Amino acid sequence: MRITLRLIVSLVVAVAAVASFFAYQQVRQEKQRQGEELERRSRLLAESLQETIEPLVLKGPSKNLQRLVEKFGNRERLAGVAVYSASQSPLAVTASLAPHLAVAPRLITEAISKNIDGSEFDAIAGRGMHIYVLPLRVSNQIAGAMAIFHDTTYIQGQLSRIWRYSFLRILIQMVLITFITLLVIRWNVTRPIAQMASWMKQLRAGETEEAFALPKGDLFAPIAKEVSTFARHLSAAKTAAEQEARLRQTAESLWTPERLKEHIKTKLRGKPLFVVSNREPYMHLRRGRQMEVIVPAGGLITALEPVMRACGGTWIAHGAGDADWDVVDDKNRVRVPPDDPLYTLKRVALTKEEENGYYYGFSNEGLWPLCHIAHTRPTFRAEDWDYYQKANQKFAQAILEELVDVEEPCVLIQDYHFALLARFIKESRPDARIAIFWHIPWPNPEAFGICPWQKELVYGMLGADLIGFHIQFHCNNFLDTVDRTIESRIDWERFAIAKDDHLTFVKPFPISVAFPHAFQDVSSQPSVKPDRAALLKDLGVKAKYLGVGVERMDYTKGMLERFRAIERFLEKYPRYQGEFTFVQLGAPSRTHIKRYHDFVAEVGSEAERINWKFKGRDWKPIVFLEKHHSHNEIMPFYSLADICMVTSLHDGMNLVAKEFVASRDDNSGVLILSRFTGASTELRDALIINPYDIEQMADSILYALEMEPEEKAARMLRMRETIKEHNIYRWAGNLVAELTQIRLDKQAALKV
Ligand code: G6P
Repeated sequence: MRITLRLIVSLVVAVAAVASFFAYQQVRQEKQRQGEELERRSRLLAESLQETIEPLVLKGPSKNLQRLVEKFGNRERLAGVAVYSASQSPLAVTASLAPHLAVAPRLITEAISKNIDGSEFDAIAGRGMHIYVLPLRVSNQIAGAMAIFHDTTYIQGQLSRIWRYSFLRILIQMVLITFITLLVIRWNVTRPIAQMASWMKQLRAGETEEAFALPKGDLFAPIAKEVSTFARHLSAAKTAAEQEARLRQTAESLWTPERLKEHIKTKLRGKPLFVVSNREPYMHLRRGRQMEVIVPAGGLITALEPVMRACGGTWIAHGAGDADWDVVDDKNRVRVPPDDPLYTLKRVALTKEEENGYYYGFSNEGLWPLCHIAHTRPTFRAEDWDYYQKANQKFAQAILEELVDVEEPCVLIQDYHFALLARFIKESRPDARIAIFWHIPWPNPEAFGICPWQKELVYGMLGADLIGFHIQFHCNNFLDTVDRTIESRIDWERFAIAKDDHLTFVKPFPISVAFPHAFQDVSSQPSVKPDRAALLKDLGVKAKYLGVGVERMDYTKGMLERFRAIERFLEKYPRYQGEFTFVQLGAPSRTHIKRYHDFVAEVGSEAERINWKFKGRDWKPIVFLEKHHSHNEIMPFYSLADICMVTSLHDGMNLVAKEFVASRDDNSGVLILSRFTGASTELRDALIINPYDIEQMADSILYALEMEPEEKAARMLRMRETIKEHNIYRWAGNLVAELTQIRLDKQAALKV
């Protein structure tokens, strides 16, 4: 209240001072204007009388002169006229003024002595007067002077009126200012603060978990956002503490972000964790004059982002966004997530040639199709291989800069973009503990053997102390490949390889998702769960059943096969025409590669062909949404779908399958899952299909849609238990634990 009072008093004083100043100016100008007007009128009158009076002056007081002054006295505001001789004695004066003008006024004396006219305001007989005096001349000699008197009481009246209006105006302004200030403060300050306080109270009492919502652009929006983040952390910590307490009681082995954080702190003895991947977790993009931050699509980011949020540390990745370099410091670092910084992202710059050769060329036209058996031929070019080596070296340099001052640092390298990186780092930092996790399948030695640089790749990977794959089968394939490719000693029991006095362990670590979703961005969460009809209405369709597919537009994902299965399903079971719609969310990916470019067009035209075949008035079988969707945009589709189809032709793990399951806290929905995904080894309660078998897939759709709710719930519950137990925190915990246990000395290698 004191602030409000201070604000009101300051405003009122300021406004009153300004208004009074201007009122004073107005009065002054008005007085001046009236004075000038009176002078003009007096001069006119005096000049018109001058000719008649001058000849009479030398004759002394006369009746004629007296008549003349009487004639002009007392007209409107004219109070009178007085004529004086050169000796300043009155010759004729208007009767009403005569008693007061026996002695010539000061101006008359001045006019006679200096031969000049003049005017002034004065008081005569207690009345305000304006006096104008004109010298009278006879034969160019001063013969006397004439004075014209105007009553100025009316001017005072006018000036007082101006003052009165001004004061009234100031008064009204003060009342309005007080009223508006009170209103504004109440609506924009007091009320939001009271709301925020009551929300915090509710939050503290555990009566609400909802984010605090203020109207957009509000004064308190930044504080509300910070408080929301704070509250989110508080509630996450509370949940974690409760969970920990429960765990202690039940001796359950659930992994939480907090548990991982503590675990990593212990294992790394307080040292930071370093993660390297090609794709960055946050991309800054220019959208006209605005900057937008997106989380790129792909399983790697989905999996590692919650780990980094939990543990902190540094994530080194290629800065591929066009505004990425506008936000980094002089060491190319930026703290992320942008809204709630928890770890450091260090960006590595690549030239266009490097990106073409290393990323598009060798990684995605060579290694990607080499490792995925999806019947797209790999392309190997010598110049791409050169760039691949150079880019690996460049990343090694960037990482080494970060490792300075850290003893025995732990580095987790991600994926097929960096087969050579571990060795490059080890050459400079033999004390570093390095793991490489291969997020995609590892094929059998025959398939891998077509790569002209298979030896160099395998040798590079063996620079790591630990190599991780999603499943045991990929580990077996890798060991077989090493066995056939380079000279080394392999311990088949411990899955370890000794090469040049260095030991590398190979192990499966089935990657997963965050469960529960502890760090979702509450501020952007939809507050109400949308209903299916509304969701479909936005897409321009009406349907009773909803299917969903979510992926990057990649030929390994089996989208064409999926669409054909939908077509076959509608053909075989026509009662579902007009009833079942499949929404495909497809994020454009690697579009500079012709195969990907063509693939998008192929998927689009296949959807169109099938839609044309069955399309009804306000229904179509496939809605293909080709754009990048944020996590929050995808969530409603996951949570409202009857079925989710993951039909990859070959997939390391596939985290869409796990995300779908993790999002179904209603224990409903059916997952149709390709047997060629790593996930199918864990999610045995999905409907496991062969994506090349269109009939089987069509029947699975039917089976899923007609499944009894009890069976759906039982399957979903079991799958959720699996993911809850084997979540991403356990994955990271196991990987780091395994890496920190490895002996780095030569003796260990000699035992193989
Ligand atoms: C797969 C790979 C990741 C990659 C992701 C997205 O999940 O294993 O390494 O980041 O696809 O692909 P992109 O080429 O856009 O990074």
